[in-house]
Amino acid sequence: RHPGWPVRLGPLTVAAGVVELRPPRLFDAGAWSRIRIRERSHLENWEPTAPGSWEERNGVLAWPSQWSALRGLARRGQTLPFMILVDGVLAGQVTVGNVLRGSLRSAWVGYWVDSEVTGGGVATAATALVVDHCFRHAALHRIEATVRPENTPSIRVLTKLGFREEGLFRRYLDVAGGWRDHICFALTAEEVTDGLVDRLVAAGRAQHG
Ligand code: ACO
Repeated sequence: RHPGWPVRLGPLTVAAGVVELRPPRLFDAGAWSRIRIRERSHLENWEPTAPGSWEERNGVLAWPSQWSALRGLARRGQTLPFMILVDGVLAGQVTVGNVLRGSLRSAWVGYWVDSEVTGGGVATAATALVVDHCFRHAALHRIEATVRPENTPSIRVLTKLGFREEGLFRRYLDVAGGWRDHICFALTAEEVTDGLVDRLVAAGRAQHG
């Protein structure tokens, strides 16, 4: 069995509201699709290249296969996928992917947030919750995040949390129709014995509950 899965994380209160994380559900289709269709211009530049139109990939009918793929990967211990709720309403996703065990015990983290609630600490809170969970309960030692150099808000999320910049990966990921350079940020468990959530609380950026 996958250590640390399934689980709900939070609540953690930030400027935008109360942030909670829970596993994806089949009935998220309607809310997920509504946001994804509305948020095309906010999201498109930062997401993996994929076949089909945005509407096909993000319509209600696209969710069941995405949901079952995520559920399968989660059951096999390869992914920890979460829906982000703000004040009880779906507002994004945060995913821990490519979980590798053995002597690496590493994974990546990625996220998106509805532009109606951006700028209020949601992605930062969600990432803090999942990183603490990965180090404490999912037996991981290293979490990395790769981000395009142009993605200022996402770089800010990572630097606020204390992620270290490790280097520039050239033509690393096929994103928005081309091979894009990415900056790699990472944290290992030794660097966060205190916990990222506690750091946000101590900095006055979040409150428990
Ligand atoms: N210039 C400088 N700083 C900015 C800008 C800007 N143009 N826009 C936002 N910021 C800052 C905010 O002020 C905030 O910092 P602060 O707390 O110091 O004020 C920070 O960037 C954002 O932090 P949060 O509020 O925690 O993040 P938010 O909930 O707004 O979500 C996210 C950020 C996820 C990047 C959102 O904008 C989004 O969904 N973008 C599109 C998808 C995307 O880029 N996903 C990330 C891909 S990379 C990866 O997953 C590792």
